[in-house]
Amino acid sequence: MTSAIVIYESMTGNTRKAGEMIADQLTAAGIDTVACSTKEILLQQLSEADLVIVGSWTDGLFLFGQKPGGIVRLANLPVIDGKKAAVYCTYALDKGKTLEKLSNVVARRGGDVIGGASIRRDRMDESVADFVDRLLGAIDSGALEAPAEAAGELESANS
Ligand SMILES: Cc1cc2nc3c(=O)[nH]c(=O)nc-3n(C[C@H](O)[C@H](O)[C@H](O)COP(=O)(O)O)c2cc1C
Repeated sequence: MTSAIVIYESMTGNTRKAGEMIADQLTAAGIDTVACSTKEILLQQLSEADLVIVGSWTDGLFLFGQKPGGIVRLANLPVIDGKKAAVYCTYALDKGKTLEKLSNVVARRGGDVIGGASIRRDRMDESVADFVDRLLGAIDSGALEAPAEAAGELESANS
């Protein structure tokens, strides 16, 4: 059975909530998924996961300088060499390049990032459902087996 893990970096709870929704919806669709904080990573589930989804909040000056919140903890995530990964960020108004930066951080830990989503905190339900749909579509079309380039990148949802 395909399994996944969501690892979230959250300060006020939005990214945790999104991560738990993603895990619940993937599990309901047959992908056994757990969610955990970067502060308490479920290492056994991480080592077994076929897909690692990493989420963070947007930290910046609202119109510029945005980056993933908790970037030091993210940069020190366990190495996930060769595993497929996806990323998401939550934000209030303007995410800037947070998603791209998070993608780079996860790639530096060895993750093969197949795509991601930015989730506006006041539109969480729609954005999470859309992200989960796209993840399931990518999984169905073999994204977890093929190299990322061959599987085609997931597009970022700018909702
Ligand atoms: C210090 C700080 C800086 C923030 N900077 C931005 C920003 O530059 N752009 C933005 O859209 N949201 C910004 N936000 C909003 C958060 O990214 C947003 O509320 C996010 O969903 C919080 O996630 P969390 O509840 O998991 O901590 C900022 C929040 C804080 C606390």
